[in-house]
Amino acid sequence: MKIIAGNWKMNGSRAGLENMLCDLENVDTDNTVILCVPYTMLCAGNARVAIGAQDVSQHTHGAYTGSVSAQMVADAGAKYVIVGHSECRQYNGDTNSIVCQKAAQVLANGMIPIVCVGETMDEKQAGKTMAVIESGVRESIPSDVSTPIIVAYEPRWAIGAGLTPTADEIACAHALIAKTLADMGLAGTPVLYGASVKGANAAEIMSISNVDGVLVGGASLKSDDFIPIITSVK
Ligand code: PGA
Repeated sequence: MKIIAGNWKMNGSRAGLENMLCDLENVDTDNTVILCVPYTMLCAGNARVAIGAQDVSQHTHGAYTGSVSAQMVADAGAKYVIVGHSECRQYNGDTNSIVCQKAAQVLANGMIPIVCVGETMDEKQAGKTMAVIESGVRESIPSDVSTPIIVAYEPRWAIGAGLTPTADEIACAHALIAKTLADMGLAGTPVLYGASVKGANAAEIMSISNVDGVLVGGASLKSDDFIPIITSVK
């Protein structure tokens, strides 16, 4: 059983989500299916699909105009929240330390954080991939986790670019993440792969060891693209 999570980013509409939920409701799968949608579309999902948010404030409440708290997204029906997505790290200045605070807020409100880590092209070219991944995992996850979390490895240079690392590169990154999580007392934490996943490569990627599922951007927007990913593995 794998975890298939979609990330709609700043796309879609409430009507589009309704249609997607209907389309997914009868898909025959034992996999866990999650859709992380914009705040305005948060809802309770259905028996087949759990809803997640894509970010959350590191603060509990107060004078933070434009921000949305973990309590608010939980109240709206979210079960999961992506934290530390590369676009939030790039455009909003999220550091490992801020991501860690956000993950703590998500956990404190009874939801499951999907903590993203991954290297930029500059870091890859400088030979820093493994160091960036390990520090990302160690520094972005709170020290006192006692309820489930999910980690996502997203090579930042590959997101939305139609590029994917080699199977060996994915295997090395996931082995390091699994080992680091075990060191932190979090053995068994699911680790997703994300970046340019589509129907044509999903099964192969999910057959790599320590890959427990996928985080899908562009190919999660339409049922015709997302369903083949969900059904590509048992
Ligand atoms: P992509 O995005 O599948 O469009 O590359 C992945 C992500 O940003 O989570």
